[in-house]
Amino acid sequence: MSFNIPRGTQDILPGTVEKWQYIEQVTKDLCEQYQYKEIRTPMFEHTELFERGVGDTTDVVQKEMYSFQDRGKRSLTLRPEGTAGVVRSFVQHKMFGNANQPVKLFYQGPMFRYERPQAGRYRQFVQFGIEAIGSDDPSIDAEVISLAMELYKRLGLKEIKLVLNSLGDTASRVAHKEALIAHFEPRIDEFCSDCQTRLTKNPLRILDCKKDRDHELISTAPSLKDYLNEESSTYFNKLQHYLTVMGIDFELDPNLVRGLDYYNHTAFEIMSSAEGFGAITTLCGGGRYNGLTEELGGPNAPGIGFALSIERLLAALEAENIELPVEDSLVCYMVAMGDEAKDKIVELTFKARQQGLKVEMDFQNRKMKAQLKSADRLKAKYVAILGDNELADGNIMVKEMESGSQEMVSLDQFIEHLKQS
Ligand code: HAM
Repeated sequence: MSFNIPRGTQDILPGTVEKWQYIEQVTKDLCEQYQYKEIRTPMFEHTELFERGVGDTTDVVQKEMYSFQDRGKRSLTLRPEGTAGVVRSFVQHKMFGNANQPVKLFYQGPMFRYERPQAGRYRQFVQFGIEAIGSDDPSIDAEVISLAMELYKRLGLKEIKLVLNSLGDTASRVAHKEALIAHFEPRIDEFCSDCQTRLTKNPLRILDCKKDRDHELISTAPSLKDYLNEESSTYFNKLQHYLTVMGIDFELDPNLVRGLDYYNHTAFEIMSSAEGFGAITTLCGGGRYNGLTEELGGPNAPGIGFALSIERLLAALEAENIELPVEDSLVCYMVAMGDEAKDKIVELTFKARQQGLKVEMDFQNRKMKAQLKSADRLKAKYVAILGDNELADGNIMVKEMESGSQEMVSLDQFIEHLKQS
């Protein structure tokens, strides 16, 4: 019997994992500069957290959650996204009382959604996300967006675009919701069963329906931008102003609604416009969620954040033919010729590593030629060759792979010699 991994998951093997590590390092450096601190929350949470936090009318909650009952008969769910858990933690640990506000957090880790797998869509995927909780100044919205844009820029992506919308505050949304219900209700029986349920619960989501997207009532639906009250418009204008000040280009899209329920005011996505990029072009999504801390039992603390998956980021890099500068090299490959020499090579390899050097040796007692081939494959800068004669003289032969130049180095000096090179 043999086993394969479950649909929608992937093994990330050596050779590829270095790219992930590189990206993780860039995100960490960026977050440090922007002063976002790492938070690690559990991979599973109480199911109710997502029902309340993400919203029980969303596709994520209705169709995509990996929920299970544990032995204590509690319903738990593998996290489909990071925001609900982070905000839960913010409330639980009373971070609203921290001296520094807003609280700026980042996370990186696997998320789980039971979706139909296709290019760029997995059932387990890794999100990098940030959340800034405790400010409703549009400058923090601009900062959050700028961090995502900066990450893509640092990794070399050029063909990306930022799409922006405002979902307005509660009052604007209530007015818009009423207008949407009045618009769709007379002909709601022409829509799918999901949309029929959405009509009273969350009619905005009808605009986002994949099945009914070509229905004529979608294109003629009342636009939220006509229902934004003055406060919401002012907020949105200020955000655009800050982005302009930062020199970040954006497009406005009044039809951008996000798939999760907690959003208001700012909603944004970053898409790849690279030719040949798959059907799913959204690389990153985020927005503002004033009210979520209260929904999860805390005091009012307005928040904003985004998340992006490393899988889609890698796909975008590939579409733009960008090679990450992942360096996978060795300082020295240690070659032993003979049993006594092998003893010394085992010792020197261990000692060189203690001194922080990247070295490798042969573990299969192969011929010199095969060992030299390995050195070449592992991109070793030097090979050190030790035979019985050299050993008797207290020396080791060190060869620089690129130039082919060789020199005899005293065994006592060998590690120091490598350290200097
Ligand atoms: P989301 O739009 O559901 O938002 O997901 C954000 C990003 O996660 C997407 O843009 C995409 O890069 C990635 N993603 C989502 N589903 C998949 C999948 N099945 N396979 C691969 N990548 C995927 C959120 O999750 C919100 N929590 C973002 C947020 C943070 N809003 C405020 N703060």
